[in-house]
Amino acid sequence: MKNIKAIIFDAYGTLFDVNSAAEKCKDRIGSKWESFSNYWRTTQLEYTWLRSLMKRHKDFWKITEDSLDKSMKVFNINPNMKRELLDLYRILSPYPEVKETLQLLKEKNYKLSILSNGTPALLNELVYSNNLKVFDDIFSVEEVGIFKPDSKVYDIPVRKYKIEKHEVAFLSANTWDVSGGGNYGFNAIWVNRNNIIFDNLDYSPENKINNLKHLLDII
Ligand code: LAC
Repeated sequence: MKNIKAIIFDAYGTLFDVNSAAEKCKDRIGSKWESFSNYWRTTQLEYTWLRSLMKRHKDFWKITEDSLDKSMKVFNINPNMKRELLDLYRILSPYPEVKETLQLLKEKNYKLSILSNGTPALLNELVYSNNLKVFDDIFSVEEVGIFKPDSKVYDIPVRKYKIEKHEVAFLSANTWDVSGGGNYGFNAIWVNRNNIIFDNLDYSPENKINNLKHLLDII
């Protein structure tokens, strides 16, 4: 990839493991912990898309709680666990290779930032609790009051950095976010950790990696 001026990362599912909150409680949730966690994540995302379409924005933290409430009922999880699951969601663990990769990219002097559905407070806490202080900027959708994949979100870093869309390397593990960023005009890179199938949404990323470390080979 040539002429990349900024490397921009999605947060949830790309840098941070969204299943790590439920996983830390798996002794009490039991074997359904992973299905429950996937359902929570899917419901959370559906609520972001539905609220964007209904033009009834609510911040990501409230949506995370709303989707958790529904998921706990569906999976019959003890309501006493709600607070603990939410507290763990605020300090999700990064994927194993994230810290080292970010450090190596930082040494190469790339501008590094996050562009996420999360609120500024949530994203700052994630970065702080995991000691990932490498980012030049943390961009939140709260600045534009609508969720990804609305183009207003992808406009945020382009406007701030005064760069062309194709000068951005945008990384996401969420296929729909890769399609969103790619259709917008970013050089989107798909982080496909679990060897899944890509979407049919009029964009196919030229670059696919199976973990973030491989970014160092293509950038
Ligand atoms: C985010 C969601 C897509 O961090 O995971 O924006």
